Amino acid sequence: MPSKGIEAAGLVREFKGGVLAVAGIDLHVAEGEIYGFLGPNGAGKSTTVHMLTTLLPPTAGRATVAGFDVVHEGPKVRKAIGAALQEAALDPILTGREHLRLQTALHALPREERKPRSDELLERVGLTGAADRKVRTYSGGMKRRLDLALALVHRPRMLFLDEPTTGLDVQSRSALWQEVARLAKEDGVTVFLTTQYLEEADVLCDRVGIIDQGKIVAEGSPAELKASIGRPTVDVVPADHEQRDRVSAVLAQFGELTQASPHGVAVLLSGDEFGLADVVRALDAEGLHVEHLQLHAPSLDDVFLAQTGRTLEGAEQEQQTELVP
Ligand SMILES: Nc1ncnc2c1ncn2[C@@H]1O[C@H](COP(=O)(O)OP(=O)(O)O)[C@@H](O)[C@H]1O
Ligand SMILES: [Mg+2]
Repeated sequence: MPSKGIEAAGLVREFKGGVLAVAGIDLHVAEGEIYGFLGPNGAGKSTTVHMLTTLLPPTAGRATVAGFDVVHEGPKVRKAIGAALQEAALDPILTGREHLRLQTALHALPREERKPRSDELLERVGLTGAADRKVRTYSGGMKRRLDLALALVHRPRMLFLDEPTTGLDVQSRSALWQEVARLAKEDGVTVFLTTQYLEEADVLCDRVGIIDQGKIVAEGSPAELKASIGRPTVDVVPADHEQRDRVSAVLAQFGELTQASPHGVAVLLSGDEFGLADVVRALDAEGLHVEHLQLHAPSLDDVFLAQTGRTLEGAEQEQQTELVP
């Protein structure tokens, strides 16, 4: 029996002129999972989503979505899924409520269900108060939330979101994450989303595929991906630069010494048993004063860097904790 999630094998999309936007992708997304496609601009994220949502035929390979073949069973796929895509067309002169009423009609919901379903979804995405305002007065975050509500009208079991939070401020972004997480957790909706934001993939997704130049270069849970890079590094600059050797001796108890900042000593923490606090305590116990101490935890950007030799375009500040005692 085909999986009710997403299965893709050797999926390829070549555009005219030989542009290989998607260069052979395999996917296994389980039902109820939040799967994130993380990659820079032009990586092939939207093209993949367009193939999986039947908007664009693959030039090679095959895929099933919710158990249906994207090429041969397009209508069944479209009935099973909801999609909020980047170029989602909202009409600026219609209100949020009017958009929802139109969408319930488009999906042929029974007449008596259209109003309650619209109201329920407006409430769910926090737009009840703005429901009768024209969309041209909405903020970016409100438009994305309306997109999401429109994608949910027919109670899809699977949701595709193409860069749902690009360009949004931090607050709107986390509001949307909460809603998407709730859909997956409480309603068991499978979510396939694309993002350029490390933090979004990290916080929201059960599993992440890192995509670059049409290929998945790494895949796993955010924790697995980061663990593949290795343990965090602690870099210590002693207040008295003459004490570097003594600092080295202390740090060596916590793992292998590694490349450090100019006046510093750095250790790659080994195992799970040591943390930053242990290092600080040990230095303190030796009476060593510290000018600067920095923890560098591996991020998904490090994973991308390790796989591609480049850093993610649009990547946010790498995750660093700085302590200046
Ligand atoms: N309709 C098209 N015709 C030709 N090339 C395209 C078309 N759509 C996308 N591309 C190219 O395919 C590559 C992947 O694009 P896209 O899937 O939109 O990437 P992403 O969504 O990750 O930014 C890019 O090089 C883009 O220029
Ligand atoms: Mg895109």
